[in-house]
Amino acid sequence: MKGGAEEVKAQALRDFAEYINPMKVRTLKSAGLDIIEDRREGAGVWDITGRKYIDCQTGSGIMNVGRHNREIVEALKKALDTYDIGVFLLCSKPKADLAKRLAEISPGDLKCTVFGVGGGEANDAAIKIARGFTMKTGIIYAKNSYHGHTGFALSAIGREAYREPFGPLMPGFTMVPFGDMDAMKEAMNEETAAVILEPILGEGGIHVPPDDYLPAVRKLCDENEALLILDEVQTGFARTGKMFAAEHWNVVPDIMTVAKSMGGGIYPISATIFKEEIMDFFIPHPFIHLSTFGGSDLGCMVALAVIDYIEKNDLAGHAQKMGQRFRKGFDALLKEYPELLLEVRQKGLMMGLQYTNESIGPRMSKKLSDRGVIAVYTGNDPSICRLMPPLVISPEEVDLVLEALEGSMKELSKESGIGKDD
Ligand SMILES: Cc1ncc(COP(=O)(O)O)c(C=O)c1O
Repeated sequence: MKGGAEEVKAQALRDFAEYINPMKVRTLKSAGLDIIEDRREGAGVWDITGRKYIDCQTGSGIMNVGRHNREIVEALKKALDTYDIGVFLLCSKPKADLAKRLAEISPGDLKCTVFGVGGGEANDAAIKIARGFTMKTGIIYAKNSYHGHTGFALSAIGREAYREPFGPLMPGFTMVPFGDMDAMKEAMNEETAAVILEPILGEGGIHVPPDDYLPAVRKLCDENEALLILDEVQTGFARTGKMFAAEHWNVVPDIMTVAKSMGGGIYPISATIFKEEIMDFFIPHPFIHLSTFGGSDLGCMVALAVIDYIEKNDLAGHAQKMGQRFRKGFDALLKEYPELLLEVRQKGLMMGLQYTNESIGPRMSKKLSDRGVIAVYTGNDPSICRLMPPLVISPEEVDLVLEALEGSMKELSKESGIGKDD
């Protein structure tokens, strides 16, 4: 039986390499991540061969409510009794219900929603709305940011490698270092339509800004009649210990984008949520931004169940507690392995381990996978390991991840010859 599963796995990897992406398979193999997911539950995922892993990657934060969450699956099944995707041209009750619910849980006076399918699309919509509403063109974005690979979002990605083959991209985009208020002031001018930022850089390596940064950006935008767009695609839905990360700094953006965990890992859906006054732009243009599958009735029913689940189970509070448990373990690792681990950056269960050099990221991923933990270096920087487990992770599972980190570092430290003797 096991031999059979191994062969099914090998064939799937061969087919993936031949028909989808050979380099992806090669890279994943070298990082010990040539896993073919089968059963999924809570913080766990089982490879098709039966091996269990704790998932600390979760598609960069899609699975806040846990893998294959039964309550969300049941919500989708129930929705399927009545609904299909729905017709984007018509109004629907699930869309109206979800938009109202999003207004209730969003920071401050964010109120109106344009639905989409994914995060890039939500950011495209945000930038379009900002330009349309302000009738200005300038967009300021951060170095090492990540907003998706679609048109406008790609132009705001702060990593050259993703953009370089596709130029010329959208004009009017200015990049500034994240967290640097002087650079932000210098870039801002009367042509600036919006600043788009992740509250915490995700792909860029879990960089938490100084506490005064986002409030100061908010103020600068107000002074210059520019909009503030916060991309909460990765940070949203309780990941950082608050429903939305902006709440840590009491900042209310003009536009907020959400996706990923909004669909509970079960059904894709995204939203661009904005202040009521921005609705003025849509009055003469009610059909100016459309998405056939965006905010499908099924997706809306799933997202409503996700929000209920997060609130009912206080996942924000749990993320804070489990984040603190992780922190104690990280502090011990920082003391024990200074030659490997430089610093740890964290808000709730959005956690980044800054290694001392880029070669450590892939090597640690392999060692962690050998110990039953999926944890991967970030897309923009291999010297940073991002840990974003499901928010339902148990204290015991936190300890298992910490043990795997300790074991991996111990081994790596000896191998590389820079570690201490036992
Ligand atoms: C902060 C952020 N914004 C946008 C996106 C793009 O989302 P999607 O891949 O759903 O288009 C991502 C994806 O990782 C993200 O992390």
